[in-house]
Amino acid sequence: MTLQLNVNGQNHQVNVSDGSMPLLWVLRDLLGLTGTKYGCGIEVCGACTVMVDGQPELSCDLDVTSAAGRKIVTIEGLSANRSHPVQQAWVAGQVPQCGYCQSGVIMTMACKMKAGARGSDAVKEVKNLCVCGTYQRMKEASKTI
Ligand code: FES
Ligand code: FES
Repeated sequence: MTLQLNVNGQNHQVNVSDGSMPLLWVLRDLLGLTGTKYGCGIEVCGACTVMVDGQPELSCDLDVTSAAGRKIVTIEGLSANRSHPVQQAWVAGQVPQCGYCQSGVIMTMACKMKAGARGSDAVKEVKNLCVCGTYQRMKEASKTI
C-alpha cells in the first residue's frame, strides 16, 4: 500500500507491505532518517520518540497508517543547524554521553516546551531511559532554557 507522510515539512510517498508497520521502521529504513533510535520496541525507553502534531509519540508503537496525514518531526527536522534551545543547552551542558538516547530525550523536551513548559519543568516530565545515566546533566542543562 502507498501512504502519504509529512516528515520534517516534506511530503513523502511510502510503499509499505503492511500498514501496521511501526513508524520507526519507515523513518529509519525507508526514509533514511536514522536519528530516531530503536531501543526496547515495547514502549518503555523513549529512544524512538518523535513529534507528531506537536505531541511526543513513541514511533515504535505508532503504526504508519495512523501517522499518515499528520505532521511528523524527527530530530533531523527539529531545527536548522542544531539551533533549537534544547539542542544548544544540551551541547553547552555536555549532556550526551554515548548519545543513543538523546534524540528521544531532546524530542520529548521539545514537545513539552512547545506546549509552554520551561526547561526545568519539561525535564521533570522526561521519562526516557538513559543507560549512561545523564539525568543530572539533563537537569542542570534544562535550567538554562
Ligand atoms: S524503542 Fe520505542 S519506547 Fe523503546
Ligand atoms: S547518553 Fe548514552 S544512553 Fe543516554
